[in-house]
Order: sequence, then structure tokens, then C-alpha cells
Amino acid sequence: MNVNGKHYRTIWPKQDNPQIIEIIDQRFLPHNFVVEELAGLDDFVSAIRDMHVRGAGLIGATAAFGMYCAALHTPQEKGESFLKEAARKLIDTRPTAKNLSWAVRRQLAAILGIADAAERLKKAYETACLIADEDAEYCRRIGEHGLGIIREISKRKNGEPVNILTHCNAGWLAFVDYGSATAPIYAAHQEGIPLHVWVDETRPWNQGAKLTAWELFQENIDHTLIVDNTGGHLMQHGQVDLVIVGSDRTTRTGDVANKIGTYLKALAAKDNNVPFYVALPSSTIDWDLCDGLQEIPIEKRSGDEVKFISGLSTKDQALTTVLCGLPETPAVNYGFDVTPARLVTGIITERGIAEPNEKSLLSFFPEYS
Ligand code: MRU
Repeated sequence: MNVNGKHYRTIWPKQDNPQIIEIIDQRFLPHNFVVEELAGLDDFVSAIRDMHVRGAGLIGATAAFGMYCAALHTPQEKGESFLKEAARKLIDTRPTAKNLSWAVRRQLAAILGIADAAERLKKAYETACLIADEDAEYCRRIGEHGLGIIREISKRKNGEPVNILTHCNAGWLAFVDYGSATAPIYAAHQEGIPLHVWVDETRPWNQGAKLTAWELFQENIDHTLIVDNTGGHLMQHGQVDLVIVGSDRTTRTGDVANKIGTYLKALAAKDNNVPFYVALPSSTIDWDLCDGLQEIPIEKRSGDEVKFISGLSTKDQALTTVLCGLPETPAVNYGFDVTPARLVTGIITERGIAEPNEKSLLSFFPEYS
């Protein structure tokens, strides 16, 4: 995707030194575009845990490069135990996104058992690059499949702008490129379909205000920022044609964990007959789980993310953090919620649009039967 007209991915090996991995440090967006270098395993661990990178696909790709970094620094006498320990450290950073453990386990399966260190390192690098390339390609395909939904609505509206609501950031910043929820939006925009995006600000971290709005601005797509509680009102007044969100973990039965607040959007969409689609690459599906509410681990982050808010000071244009309420007020911060399959219209994957149930998902991914 484009930043000031230049194409970027969200993670890449440094051009003149591929032992260093570069990322866009998302904590400073949209005000500063900062590229950070990750060189040691601890850099990868804190980049994921402290949300320099975030979003399901990008967390997975970062963890995959983190395993490459671990392979690079494996002491000769430790070998596989070092790699397993690195895997555990990476997986422990954030519990909800399936892509994280999926990518780490894929790396382990690729490199454990290779005795020769140089060969192991080569394999770890190739696997990380493959995971990143696949993530981008699968998101591109999600865009192709989702485009049909937007095209249909546009036809029905005789070319009037299609109003799409999205929550959090499931854009290219949440993946290696394209994004999941935004990929159909970018594809429709490229095709010349008039559209407008309602961007939920997404408290407490404000991924919508800081990231999704910035991405859409970079791509010249008409959009409007709204507070998280506005979606229901807009739906009641016919101002939302379609909701598309991403997912951090989806069960084989079609229950969907996504950023906190998604469930409320799905309820409002159901009540107002607004189609509610979830876009995700198959690396997000947890084929071991059947009941999202009972089984998907929900990340609990620091209450300080609720109590404080950060942004650009209008006084001196510096990035600033301010306390909203009393320092003594207790705050709780669940990162995600689960939307049951019954509230989902369809799941847009890299292989096509599945109904939110086991039979339909398996018809697209029979290898998990
Ligand atoms: O806490 P985050 O920002 O890593 O949460 C991830 C998300 O942005 C969303 O839940 C998103 O919609 C799915 S990830 C593509």
C-alpha cells in the first residue's frame, strides 16, 4: 500500500542487511512515520507485546521473522531448546490472535530437526518470507472475493456511494499488505465504485482513528471518523449498506473474535438487516475450536490504556499522553469480544466466501475435515 505515493509493506528484511528486520512502528501513526529496526529476539517480543506492530496477520509475520532471528542467534550448545524457548516467548506476547501461534508452529515444523546451523537459518529465513508473502497474497485474494459484494450493492444503489462501516484496523497495517476487511474496499475503489467508509475510532487504543483513517486518506478513499457508539444510529437511519470487519481468531464453526465492540456492531447490524461480513485469511481460523465464547482466550491489557489517551498536542504539536479521568478510577481493558456465527452474514477468505458454519468452512478448506 502507499504512503505518500510510495509502496510499503508493513515488515521487510533490511535491504543491505537482511539479518535486521524493519517494521513501521505503528505507535507513532498517523503523526509520524517511523521505521524501526528489529535485531534481537527481545526486540520482536516487545514489538508485538507493546503494539509497535499489531493486527492478526502482521503479528504472525513478525513472529515468523522473530523465529528467524532466534535461529540466527542460537548458541551452538543449546540448539533446539533455544528455539523452543524463543517460540514460547513469542507465543506468550498476545493470546488472542491465532496467526501468532500458527506462524511460530509453522516455523518450528520447518526448522526443528535440521542439524546444520547454516541450513536451519536459511530455512527459517525462507519460511518467514513465505509466511509474509502468503499473508499479502491471501489478503489480495480476499479483496477479489469481497469486491463482488460491494459491486452488487453498488448496482442496487444505481451508483450512489456504498456506505461501509468498519471497526478497529483490519487494513494493510494489520497484515503484510492489503488488509483483510479493507482489501475489498481497496479493490472496489480501484474499480471506480463510489464508496464511503464509516471508521469506528475503536477505543481504547484508537486503531480506527489513528490507523484506518490514515490508510484510507493515503489511498484517497472517502471516509468519516465516528465514535464507537454511532454505528447503531447510522444503521437505523439507512446510512450503512454493509459492515466488514476482520478477525483475530475464528472457530471452525464460524464464531469470530475481533476487537472489543465488534459484537455490538453485529447486534445492531442484525436488528437493521445490514449484512455483516468478516474478512480473514485461513491462518486466522482455529480448527481446534468449536465454541468461540467458551474457548477463545481474550486478551486483557492494562487499564491505563482506557484511562489515558494519546495524540498530538495542539499547543506544541508534540505527541502527548493525557489522563482522561481520575487517577484512582479502576479500569478494565478486554482487547476482544466474540461475535457468534449466527450474527455473521459471511466469512470472506482467500478461497471464497463461506457461510459461518463448519460445513461451509470445510467445503473451502477440506484439508481440515
Ligand atoms: O489489538 P490489535 O490492534 O492487534 O487488534 C487486532 C485488530 O486490529 C482487530 O481486531 C482486527 O479487526 C483484526 S486483525 C486483522
